[in-house]
Amino acid sequence: MAKNIVWHDQLISKEEQRIKNKHHSAVLYFTGLSGSGKSTIANAAARRLHDLGANTYVLDGDNVRHGLNKDLGFSDEARKENIRRIGEVSKLFIDSGQLVFTAFISPFQEDRDSVRRLVEEDEFVEVYISCPLDACEERDPKGLYEKARAGVIPEFTGISSPYEAPVKPELTLKTDQYTVEECVEQLIGYLREKKWIN
Ligand code: PPS
Repeated sequence: MAKNIVWHDQLISKEEQRIKNKHHSAVLYFTGLSGSGKSTIANAAARRLHDLGANTYVLDGDNVRHGLNKDLGFSDEARKENIRRIGEVSKLFIDSGQLVFTAFISPFQEDRDSVRRLVEEDEFVEVYISCPLDACEERDPKGLYEKARAGVIPEFTGISSPYEAPVKPELTLKTDQYTVEECVEQLIGYLREKKWIN
């Protein structure tokens, strides 16, 4: 870390932001294979929460890699750094009183646990977007699995790079068994149960 850096507390606290927003702030940390439905469910859930009056934002792997993380590839080390930055950005969103969705493959349990440790205990929800590899490959919305099988894309998750399924996620959404709307309902139900939203 650089020297001579001093932390400045904000004049508007996280608690004040939450009171103003009338809901809790936290990171809804999605993880799952490419094509499992992370972005689709995160965006549909954010839309639903927005319509209910909540402040939300979706941080999406493909999008963040266009800007903030455009210097990162897909080696294990690069993925780790990708997630470290996303953890820090999520923490800022939480401080600003928002419900932030992160939609990254985030293949390593250790990296997901690091983000969990970075924020408060009641600010992290690990959401496993569960879909068998063969179903994701069947969907192949971007044609990436086909390219990975052909050896055109190296280090592709599930094919030539590992994916560690969550050990104890708070929530599992099975996108091969439920519709997008049903998955969103399950997530909203979870947030209501925790009394994080009204
Ligand atoms: S990670 O593992 O969390 O760092 O990945 P992430 O930032 O979520 O980026 C995943 C998206 O990048 C595209 N893509 C790849 N994914 C996996 N492996 C390789 N080698 C790769 N190359 C490109 C792909 O579109 C992923 O998006 P999703 O939405 O998951 O399909």
